[in-house]
Amino acid sequence: MAVAGSGSKAGHENWSSRTAFILAAVGSAVGLGNMWRFPAEAGENGGGAFVLFYIFCVLLIGLPVLLAEVLIGRHGQANAPESVRRVARDSNAGEGWSILASLGVFAAFLILSFYCVVGGWVVYYIGIFANDLVQTGLTGGAFAGRPAEDIEGLLPGLFGNAGLMIGLNLGFLAVTMFFVSRGISSGIEWVAVYLMPLFFVLFLGITIYGAFTGNFSDAVSYLFTFDFEKLTGEVMLAAVGQAFFSLSLGVAGMMTYGAYANRDTNLGKTSGIIAGADTGVAILAGLAIFPIVFAAGLSASAGPGLMFASLPVAFQAMPFGSMIGLLFFVMIFFAALTSSVSLLEAPTAYVFEKFNMPRMVATLIVGAGAAVLGVLSSLSFNDMAEFYPLGFIPLFAETNFFDTLDGVTAKLFMPIGAILTCIFVGWIADARLIDDENGLDGILHQTWRALVRFVCPVVLAVIMAFGLFS
Ligand code: TRP
Repeated sequence: MAVAGSGSKAGHENWSSRTAFILAAVGSAVGLGNMWRFPAEAGENGGGAFVLFYIFCVLLIGLPVLLAEVLIGRHGQANAPESVRRVARDSNAGEGWSILASLGVFAAFLILSFYCVVGGWVVYYIGIFANDLVQTGLTGGAFAGRPAEDIEGLLPGLFGNAGLMIGLNLGFLAVTMFFVSRGISSGIEWVAVYLMPLFFVLFLGITIYGAFTGNFSDAVSYLFTFDFEKLTGEVMLAAVGQAFFSLSLGVAGMMTYGAYANRDTNLGKTSGIIAGADTGVAILAGLAIFPIVFAAGLSASAGPGLMFASLPVAFQAMPFGSMIGLLFFVMIFFAALTSSVSLLEAPTAYVFEKFNMPRMVATLIVGAGAAVLGVLSSLSFNDMAEFYPLGFIPLFAETNFFDTLDGVTAKLFMPIGAILTCIFVGWIADARLIDDENGLDGILHQTWRALVRFVCPVVLAVIMAFGLFS
Protein backbone atom coordinates (compact mmCIF):
# COMPACT_ATOMS: atom_id res chain seq x y z
CA MET A 1 0.00 0.00 0.00
CA ALA A 2 1.60 3.15 -1.12
CA VAL A 3 0.90 6.18 0.94
CA ALA A 4 -1.79 5.27 3.43
CA GLY A 5 -1.27 7.33 6.49
CA SER A 6 1.32 9.66 5.13
CA GLY A 7 -1.02 12.54 4.55
CA SER A 8 -4.48 13.70 5.40
CA LYS A 9 -7.30 12.05 3.62
CA ALA A 10 -9.51 14.42 1.69
CA GLY A 11 -12.22 15.70 4.00
CA HIS A 12 -10.39 14.51 7.08
CA GLU A 13 -10.12 17.27 9.64
CA ASN A 14 -7.08 18.08 11.74
CA TRP A 15 -6.54 19.98 14.97
CA SER A 16 -5.71 23.56 14.13
CA SER A 17 -2.56 23.46 16.28
CA ARG A 18 -0.58 21.27 18.62
CA THR A 19 -1.99 23.24 21.55
CA ALA A 20 -5.50 22.46 20.37
CA PHE A 21 -4.62 18.76 20.25
CA ILE A 22 -3.16 18.89 23.75
CA LEU A 23 -6.19 20.74 25.14
CA ALA A 24 -8.59 18.29 23.51
CA ALA A 25 -6.67 15.25 24.74
CA VAL A 26 -6.27 16.70 28.23
CA GLY A 27 -9.96 17.52 28.07
CA SER A 28 -10.74 13.90 27.27
CA ALA A 29 -8.51 12.64 30.07
CA VAL A 30 -9.54 15.12 32.74
CA GLY A 31 -13.10 14.40 33.74
CA LEU A 32 -15.29 12.74 36.32
CA GLY A 33 -12.49 10.20 36.62
CA ASN A 34 -10.18 12.80 38.15
CA MET A 35 -12.62 14.86 40.12
CA TRP A 36 -15.06 12.25 41.34
CA ARG A 37 -13.48 8.83 41.04
CA PHE A 38 -9.85 9.55 41.99
CA PRO A 39 -10.47 11.16 45.39
CA ALA A 40 -13.11 8.53 46.14
CA GLU A 41 -10.74 5.69 45.23
CA ALA A 42 -7.85 7.24 47.14
CA GLY A 43 -10.12 7.68 50.15
CA GLU A 44 -11.39 4.12 50.03
CA ASN A 45 -7.97 2.62 49.42
CA GLY A 46 -5.95 4.16 52.18
CA GLY A 47 -4.72 7.48 50.78
CA GLY A 48 -0.96 7.69 50.25
CA ALA A 49 -0.34 4.06 49.31
CA PHE A 50 -2.92 4.33 46.56
CA VAL A 51 -1.64 7.68 45.35
CA LEU A 52 1.97 6.59 45.03
CA PHE A 53 1.11 3.36 43.30
CA TYR A 54 -1.20 5.28 41.01
CA ILE A 55 1.65 7.53 39.88
CA PHE A 56 3.77 4.46 39.30
CA CYS A 57 1.00 2.95 37.12
CA VAL A 58 0.66 6.11 35.07
CA LEU A 59 4.38 6.21 34.32
CA LEU A 60 4.95 2.53 33.67
CA ILE A 61 1.71 1.49 32.02
CA GLY A 62 -0.57 4.43 31.26
CA LEU A 63 1.91 6.65 29.48
CA PRO A 64 3.35 3.92 27.22
CA VAL A 65 -0.12 2.77 26.19
CA LEU A 66 -1.23 6.36 25.61
CA LEU A 67 1.64 6.90 23.21
CA ALA A 68 0.90 3.59 21.46
CA GLU A 69 -2.70 4.69 20.93
CA VAL A 70 -2.15 8.21 19.61
CA LEU A 71 0.57 6.86 17.37
CA ILE A 72 -1.76 4.39 15.68
CA GLY A 73 -4.31 7.14 15.12
CA ARG A 74 -1.81 9.61 13.73
CA HIS A 75 -0.41 7.11 11.28
CA GLY A 76 -3.87 6.01 10.16
CA GLN A 77 -5.49 9.48 9.94
CA ALA A 78 -8.89 7.82 10.19
CA ASN A 79 -11.38 6.38 12.66
CA ALA A 80 -9.80 3.91 15.08
CA PRO A 81 -10.46 0.55 13.37
CA GLU A 82 -9.47 2.00 10.00
CA SER A 83 -6.29 3.46 11.50
CA VAL A 84 -5.28 0.08 12.91
CA ARG A 85 -6.01 -1.48 9.53
CA ARG A 86 -3.73 1.04 7.81
CA VAL A 87 -0.89 0.47 10.26
CA ALA A 88 -1.32 -3.28 9.76
CA ARG A 89 -1.34 -2.89 5.98
CA ASP A 90 1.79 -0.72 6.03
CA SER A 91 3.44 -3.38 8.19
CA ASN A 92 2.36 -6.32 6.00
CA ALA A 93 0.32 -7.67 8.88
CA GLY A 94 -3.22 -9.03 8.93
CA GLU A 95 -5.98 -6.43 8.80
CA GLY A 96 -7.90 -8.47 11.36
CA TRP A 97 -6.03 -6.54 14.03
CA SER A 98 -8.56 -3.77 13.52
CA ILE A 99 -10.81 -5.80 15.85
CA LEU A 100 -8.89 -4.31 18.78
CA ALA A 101 -10.17 -0.89 17.86
CA SER A 102 -13.67 -2.10 16.94
CA LEU A 103 -14.01 -3.47 20.46
CA GLY A 104 -12.75 -0.14 21.74
CA VAL A 105 -15.23 1.89 19.74
CA PHE A 106 -18.04 -0.25 21.10
CA ALA A 107 -16.71 0.12 24.65
CA ALA A 108 -16.47 3.91 24.28
CA PHE A 109 -20.13 3.88 23.27
CA LEU A 110 -21.01 1.88 26.39
CA ILE A 111 -19.00 4.18 28.66
CA LEU A 112 -20.60 7.23 27.06
CA SER A 113 -24.05 5.93 27.94
CA PHE A 114 -23.42 5.74 31.70
CA TYR A 115 -21.00 8.67 31.83
CA CYS A 116 -23.85 10.92 30.74
CA VAL A 117 -25.92 9.62 33.64
CA VAL A 118 -23.35 10.94 36.11
CA GLY A 119 -23.04 14.07 33.97
CA GLY A 120 -26.76 14.54 34.70
CA TRP A 121 -26.11 14.45 38.45
CA VAL A 122 -23.57 17.23 38.00
CA VAL A 123 -26.17 19.33 36.20
CA TYR A 124 -28.60 18.65 39.05
CA TYR A 125 -26.11 19.99 41.60
CA ILE A 126 -25.51 23.08 39.50
CA GLY A 127 -29.24 23.70 39.77
CA ILE A 128 -29.26 23.00 43.52
CA PHE A 129 -26.43 25.41 44.26
CA ALA A 130 -27.70 28.09 41.89
CA ASN A 131 -31.03 27.98 43.66
CA ASP A 132 -29.33 28.05 47.04
CA LEU A 133 -27.23 31.02 46.03
CA VAL A 134 -30.37 32.95 45.19
CA GLN A 135 -31.95 31.99 48.52
CA THR A 136 -29.06 32.41 50.94
CA GLY A 137 -27.04 35.11 49.24
CA LEU A 138 -23.42 35.46 48.33
CA THR A 139 -21.43 35.36 51.53
CA GLY A 140 -23.13 32.77 53.67
CA GLY A 141 -22.52 29.04 53.77
CA ALA A 142 -24.69 26.80 51.65
CA PHE A 143 -28.04 25.38 52.74
CA ALA A 144 -28.48 27.67 55.73
CA GLY A 145 -30.17 25.92 58.59
CA ARG A 146 -30.72 22.63 56.82
CA PRO A 147 -29.61 19.48 58.67
CA ALA A 148 -26.72 17.49 57.19
CA GLU A 149 -28.96 14.47 56.49
CA ASP A 150 -31.01 16.66 54.23
CA ILE A 151 -28.00 17.62 52.19
CA GLU A 152 -26.67 14.08 52.06
CA GLY A 153 -30.11 13.01 50.98
CA LEU A 154 -30.03 15.16 47.84
CA LEU A 155 -28.50 12.46 45.64
CA PRO A 156 -30.72 9.63 46.92
CA GLY A 157 -33.60 12.04 46.42
CA LEU A 158 -32.62 12.46 42.79
CA PHE A 159 -32.25 8.68 42.40
CA GLY A 160 -35.82 8.27 43.55
CA ASN A 161 -37.10 10.52 40.78
CA ALA A 162 -36.80 8.43 37.63
CA GLY A 163 -38.22 11.07 35.32
CA LEU A 164 -35.79 13.75 36.46
CA MET A 165 -32.85 11.35 36.28
CA ILE A 166 -33.68 10.48 32.69
CA GLY A 167 -34.25 14.10 31.74
CA LEU A 168 -30.89 15.21 33.13
CA ASN A 169 -29.11 12.25 31.57
CA LEU A 170 -30.57 12.93 28.13
CA GLY A 171 -29.93 16.64 28.50
CA PHE A 172 -26.26 16.06 29.15
CA LEU A 173 -26.11 13.64 26.22
CA ALA A 174 -27.82 16.16 23.95
CA VAL A 175 -25.24 18.85 24.76
CA THR A 176 -22.49 16.33 24.01
CA MET A 177 -24.14 15.44 20.70
CA PHE A 178 -24.49 19.08 19.75
CA PHE A 179 -20.74 19.68 19.93
CA VAL A 180 -19.74 16.40 18.28
CA SER A 181 -22.13 16.99 15.40
CA ARG A 182 -20.29 20.25 14.63
CA GLY A 183 -17.06 18.42 13.87
CA ILE A 184 -13.52 19.02 15.01
CA SER A 185 -12.77 22.69 14.58
CA SER A 186 -16.10 24.26 15.43
CA GLY A 187 -17.26 21.60 17.88
CA ILE A 188 -14.81 19.41 19.74
CA GLU A 189 -11.89 21.77 19.49
CA TRP A 190 -14.07 24.72 20.42
CA VAL A 191 -15.16 23.00 23.62
CA ALA A 192 -11.58 22.15 24.53
CA VAL A 193 -10.09 25.54 23.73
CA TYR A 194 -12.69 27.53 25.67
CA LEU A 195 -13.74 25.21 28.46
CA MET A 196 -10.42 23.68 29.48
CA PRO A 197 -8.74 27.01 30.33
CA LEU A 198 -11.88 28.04 32.23
CA PHE A 199 -11.75 24.72 34.01
CA PHE A 200 -8.14 25.33 35.07
CA VAL A 201 -8.87 28.80 36.38
CA LEU A 202 -11.81 27.60 38.47
CA PHE A 203 -9.86 24.59 39.60
CA LEU A 204 -6.88 26.57 40.85
CA GLY A 205 -9.18 29.04 42.55
CA ILE A 206 -11.08 26.34 44.40
CA THR A 207 -7.89 24.53 45.40
CA ILE A 208 -6.50 27.75 46.87
CA TYR A 209 -9.81 28.41 48.60
CA GLY A 210 -9.69 24.89 50.07
CA ALA A 211 -6.11 25.39 51.17
CA PHE A 212 -6.93 28.61 53.04
CA THR A 213 -10.29 27.79 54.52
CA GLY A 214 -9.96 24.03 54.95
CA ASN A 215 -7.75 21.58 56.70
CA PHE A 216 -4.92 21.53 54.18
CA SER A 217 -2.18 19.92 56.23
CA ASP A 218 -4.31 16.90 57.12
CA ALA A 219 -5.16 16.47 53.46
CA VAL A 220 -1.50 16.62 52.48
CA SER A 221 -0.44 14.07 55.03
CA TYR A 222 -3.40 11.87 54.13
CA LEU A 223 -2.55 11.86 50.44
CA PHE A 224 1.20 11.64 50.72
CA THR A 225 1.99 9.49 53.73
CA PHE A 226 3.04 6.25 52.19
CA ASP A 227 2.16 3.33 54.40
CA PHE A 228 3.47 0.11 52.88
CA GLU A 229 1.06 -2.08 54.76
CA LYS A 230 -1.86 -0.50 53.02
CA LEU A 231 -0.59 -1.50 49.58
CA THR A 232 -2.66 -4.67 49.09
CA GLY A 233 -3.47 -6.44 45.85
CA GLU A 234 -6.85 -4.85 45.86
CA VAL A 235 -5.39 -1.37 46.19
CA MET A 236 -3.03 -2.03 43.28
CA LEU A 237 -5.89 -3.25 41.13
CA ALA A 238 -7.91 -0.18 41.92
CA ALA A 239 -4.95 2.03 41.03
CA VAL A 240 -4.31 0.55 37.58
CA GLY A 241 -7.99 0.56 36.73
CA GLN A 242 -8.23 4.17 37.78
CA ALA A 243 -5.11 5.15 35.80
CA PHE A 244 -6.60 3.63 32.66
CA PHE A 245 -9.97 5.21 33.05
CA SER A 246 -8.47 8.57 33.85
CA LEU A 247 -6.18 8.58 30.82
CA SER A 248 -9.08 7.47 28.56
CA LEU A 249 -7.18 4.35 27.49
CA GLY A 250 -8.09 0.98 26.08
CA VAL A 251 -11.22 2.06 24.22
CA ALA A 252 -9.97 3.79 21.08
CA GLY A 253 -10.66 7.31 22.33
CA MET A 254 -7.06 8.43 22.15
CA MET A 255 -6.57 6.69 18.78
CA THR A 256 -9.46 8.73 17.47
CA TYR A 257 -7.96 11.99 18.74
CA GLY A 258 -4.48 11.02 17.51
CA ALA A 259 -5.92 10.72 14.01
CA TYR A 260 -6.49 14.48 13.93
CA ALA A 261 -2.87 15.22 14.86
CA ASN A 262 -0.50 16.69 12.30
CA ARG A 263 2.67 15.03 11.08
CA ASP A 264 4.89 17.53 12.86
CA THR A 265 3.47 16.93 16.34
CA ASN A 266 5.98 15.13 18.53
CA LEU A 267 3.79 12.38 19.96
CA GLY A 268 6.22 11.27 22.68
CA LYS A 269 6.43 14.71 24.19
CA THR A 270 2.74 15.39 23.74
CA SER A 271 1.76 12.13 25.47
CA GLY A 272 3.99 13.10 28.38
CA ILE A 273 2.21 16.44 28.69
CA ILE A 274 -1.23 14.81 28.54
CA ALA A 275 -0.39 12.20 31.19
CA GLY A 276 1.31 14.79 33.37
CA ALA A 277 -1.61 17.20 33.23
CA ASP A 278 -4.13 14.47 33.93
CA THR A 279 -2.21 13.15 36.93
CA GLY A 280 -1.57 16.63 38.25
CA VAL A 281 -5.29 17.41 38.12
CA ALA A 282 -6.17 14.16 39.90
CA ILE A 283 -3.78 14.88 42.75
CA LEU A 284 -4.79 18.50 42.98
CA ALA A 285 -8.42 17.39 43.03
CA GLY A 286 -7.56 15.43 46.16
CA LEU A 287 -5.89 18.54 47.56
CA ALA A 288 -8.98 20.59 46.78
CA ILE A 289 -11.57 18.16 48.11
CA PHE A 290 -10.02 16.60 51.21
CA PRO A 291 -9.19 19.84 53.10
CA ILE A 292 -12.82 20.88 52.75
CA VAL A 293 -14.07 17.44 53.78
CA PHE A 294 -11.66 17.18 56.72
CA ALA A 295 -12.44 20.68 57.95
CA ALA A 296 -16.08 19.64 58.26
CA GLY A 297 -14.98 16.59 60.27
CA LEU A 298 -16.20 14.19 57.59
CA SER A 299 -14.63 10.87 56.62
CA ALA A 300 -12.32 10.48 53.63
CA SER A 301 -13.69 7.09 52.74
CA ALA A 302 -17.18 8.07 51.68
CA GLY A 303 -16.48 6.55 48.24
CA PRO A 304 -18.70 7.69 45.39
CA GLY A 305 -20.66 9.82 47.84
CA LEU A 306 -17.59 11.94 48.57
CA MET A 307 -18.18 14.54 45.90
CA PHE A 308 -21.98 14.44 45.78
CA ALA A 309 -22.78 14.10 49.49
CA SER A 310 -19.85 14.94 51.75
CA LEU A 311 -18.61 17.94 49.83
CA PRO A 312 -21.97 19.74 49.74
CA VAL A 313 -22.26 19.19 53.49
CA ALA A 314 -18.82 20.69 53.91
CA PHE A 315 -19.82 23.74 51.87
CA GLN A 316 -22.46 24.46 54.48
CA ALA A 317 -19.88 25.55 56.99
CA MET A 318 -17.69 27.49 54.60
CA PRO A 319 -17.76 31.19 53.78
CA PHE A 320 -19.21 31.76 50.30
CA GLY A 321 -20.38 28.12 50.44
CA SER A 322 -23.21 28.44 47.93
CA MET A 323 -21.12 30.28 45.41
CA ILE A 324 -18.13 27.97 45.75
CA GLY A 325 -20.45 24.99 45.49
CA LEU A 326 -21.95 26.39 42.31
CA LEU A 327 -18.55 27.16 40.78
CA PHE A 328 -17.30 23.74 41.82
CA PHE A 329 -20.05 21.89 39.98
CA VAL A 330 -19.81 24.19 36.94
CA MET A 331 -16.13 23.30 36.82
CA ILE A 332 -16.94 19.56 37.05
CA PHE A 333 -19.46 20.06 34.25
CA PHE A 334 -16.78 21.52 31.95
CA ALA A 335 -14.43 18.63 32.73
CA ALA A 336 -17.15 16.04 32.17
CA LEU A 337 -18.31 17.58 28.89
CA THR A 338 -14.84 17.61 27.32
CA SER A 339 -14.63 13.91 28.22
CA SER A 340 -18.07 12.84 27.04
CA VAL A 341 -17.39 14.58 23.76
CA SER A 342 -14.36 12.31 23.23
CA LEU A 343 -16.38 9.23 24.17
CA LEU A 344 -18.98 10.10 21.54
CA GLU A 345 -16.44 11.06 18.90
CA ALA A 346 -14.84 7.59 18.77
CA PRO A 347 -17.99 5.70 17.66
CA THR A 348 -19.30 8.65 15.63
CA ALA A 349 -16.12 8.95 13.54
CA TYR A 350 -16.28 5.23 12.90
CA VAL A 351 -19.91 5.29 11.79
CA PHE A 352 -19.69 8.30 9.49
CA GLU A 353 -16.48 7.24 7.79
CA LYS A 354 -17.45 3.60 7.48
CA PHE A 355 -20.93 4.23 6.09
CA ASN A 356 -20.01 7.42 4.35
CA MET A 357 -22.80 9.45 5.90
CA PRO A 358 -22.88 13.02 7.17
CA ARG A 359 -21.37 13.51 10.62
CA MET A 360 -24.69 14.86 11.83
CA VAL A 361 -26.56 11.67 10.96
CA ALA A 362 -23.90 9.48 12.56
CA THR A 363 -24.05 11.57 15.74
CA LEU A 364 -27.81 11.13 15.88
CA ILE A 365 -27.59 7.37 15.39
CA VAL A 366 -24.89 6.82 18.02
CA GLY A 367 -26.54 9.30 20.38
CA ALA A 368 -29.90 7.54 20.06
CA GLY A 369 -28.23 4.27 21.04
CA ALA A 370 -26.56 5.91 24.02
CA ALA A 371 -29.90 7.41 25.02
CA VAL A 372 -31.56 3.98 25.16
CA LEU A 373 -28.78 2.51 27.29
CA GLY A 374 -28.70 5.68 29.38
CA VAL A 375 -32.38 5.38 30.22
CA LEU A 376 -31.78 1.82 31.39
CA SER A 377 -28.83 3.02 33.49
CA SER A 378 -30.87 5.85 34.98
CA LEU A 379 -33.61 3.40 35.86
CA SER A 380 -31.16 1.11 37.63
CA PHE A 381 -31.18 3.60 40.50
CA ASN A 382 -34.92 3.30 40.97
CA ASP A 383 -37.55 1.37 39.01
CA MET A 384 -35.14 -1.22 37.66
CA ALA A 385 -32.81 -1.53 40.64
CA GLU A 386 -33.36 -5.24 40.68
CA PHE A 387 -32.70 -5.88 37.03
CA TYR A 388 -29.37 -7.72 36.77
CA PRO A 389 -28.65 -8.04 33.03
CA LEU A 390 -25.65 -10.38 33.43
CA GLY A 391 -26.87 -11.93 36.67
CA PHE A 392 -26.15 -15.42 35.35
CA ILE A 393 -22.40 -14.64 35.44
CA PRO A 394 -21.08 -14.83 39.02
CA LEU A 395 -18.92 -11.72 38.58
CA PHE A 396 -22.02 -9.68 37.73
CA ALA A 397 -24.54 -11.34 40.01
CA GLU A 398 -26.73 -8.71 41.68
CA THR A 399 -25.19 -6.01 39.54
CA ASN A 400 -27.65 -3.53 38.11
CA PHE A 401 -27.53 -2.18 34.57
CA PHE A 402 -25.37 0.86 35.35
CA ASP A 403 -22.81 -1.11 37.38
CA THR A 404 -22.77 -3.89 34.79
CA LEU A 405 -21.76 -1.46 32.03
CA ASP A 406 -19.15 0.06 34.34
CA GLY A 407 -17.83 -3.39 35.31
CA VAL A 408 -17.80 -4.88 31.81
CA THR A 409 -15.93 -1.91 30.34
CA ALA A 410 -13.43 -1.55 33.20
CA LYS A 411 -12.77 -5.24 33.79
CA LEU A 412 -12.94 -6.59 30.24
CA PHE A 413 -12.95 -4.09 27.40
CA MET A 414 -10.32 -1.69 28.71
CA PRO A 415 -7.65 -4.25 29.69
CA ILE A 416 -8.26 -6.40 26.60
CA GLY A 417 -8.09 -3.37 24.32
CA ALA A 418 -4.89 -2.20 25.94
CA ILE A 419 -3.22 -5.62 25.87
CA LEU A 420 -4.02 -6.06 22.18
CA THR A 421 -2.79 -2.52 21.47
CA CYS A 422 0.54 -3.31 23.17
CA ILE A 423 0.96 -6.58 21.29
CA PHE A 424 0.06 -4.92 18.02
CA VAL A 425 2.38 -1.94 18.45
CA GLY A 426 5.17 -3.84 20.20
CA TRP A 427 5.30 -7.03 18.18
CA ILE A 428 3.23 -6.87 15.01
CA ALA A 429 3.60 -3.41 13.52
CA ASP A 430 6.70 -2.55 11.50
CA ALA A 431 9.34 -1.30 13.95
CA ARG A 432 10.49 1.41 11.53
CA LEU A 433 7.01 2.77 11.11
CA ILE A 434 6.65 2.92 14.89
CA ASP A 435 10.06 4.59 15.35
CA ASP A 436 9.10 7.09 12.78
CA GLU A 437 5.91 8.05 14.59
CA ASN A 438 6.78 8.02 18.26
CA GLY A 439 9.05 11.04 18.51
CA LEU A 440 11.38 9.38 21.02
CA ASP A 441 15.13 8.83 20.74
CA GLY A 442 17.80 6.79 22.41
CA ILE A 443 17.17 5.52 25.88
CA LEU A 444 13.60 6.84 26.04
CA HIS A 445 12.76 4.98 22.88
CA GLN A 446 14.31 1.75 24.17
CA THR A 447 12.52 2.05 27.48
CA TRP A 448 9.18 2.76 25.89
CA ARG A 449 9.56 -0.16 23.51
CA ALA A 450 10.47 -2.56 26.32
CA LEU A 451 7.51 -1.37 28.37
CA VAL A 452 5.07 -1.81 25.47
CA ARG A 453 6.43 -5.21 24.45
CA PHE A 454 6.92 -6.84 27.82
CA VAL A 455 5.90 -4.95 30.91
CA CYS A 456 2.50 -3.53 29.94
CA PRO A 457 0.89 -6.63 28.43
CA VAL A 458 2.10 -8.89 31.24
CA VAL A 459 1.11 -6.57 34.05
CA LEU A 460 -2.25 -5.89 32.41
CA ALA A 461 -2.96 -9.59 31.93
CA VAL A 462 -2.16 -10.33 35.57
CA ILE A 463 -4.30 -7.48 36.74
CA MET A 464 -7.19 -8.47 34.54
CA ALA A 465 -7.03 -12.05 35.83
CA PHE A 466 -7.09 -10.79 39.41
CA GLY A 467 -10.02 -8.54 38.69
CA LEU A 468 -11.99 -11.38 37.12
CA PHE A 469 -11.18 -14.23 39.45
CA SER A 470 -10.54 -12.80 42.86
N1 TRP B 1 -10.91 10.00 31.19
C1 TRP B 1 -12.22 10.51 31.41
C2 TRP B 1 -12.37 10.84 32.89
O1 TRP B 1 -11.44 10.75 33.62
C3 TRP B 1 -13.30 9.57 30.98
C4 TRP B 1 -13.10 9.15 29.60
C5 TRP B 1 -13.14 9.91 28.51
C6 TRP B 1 -12.76 7.90 29.18
N2 TRP B 1 -12.83 9.17 27.40
C7 TRP B 1 -12.60 7.95 27.81
C8 TRP B 1 -12.54 6.76 29.87
C9 TRP B 1 -12.24 6.86 27.10
C10 TRP B 1 -12.20 5.65 29.17
C11 TRP B 1 -12.01 5.70 27.81
O2 TRP B 1 -13.43 11.20 33.31
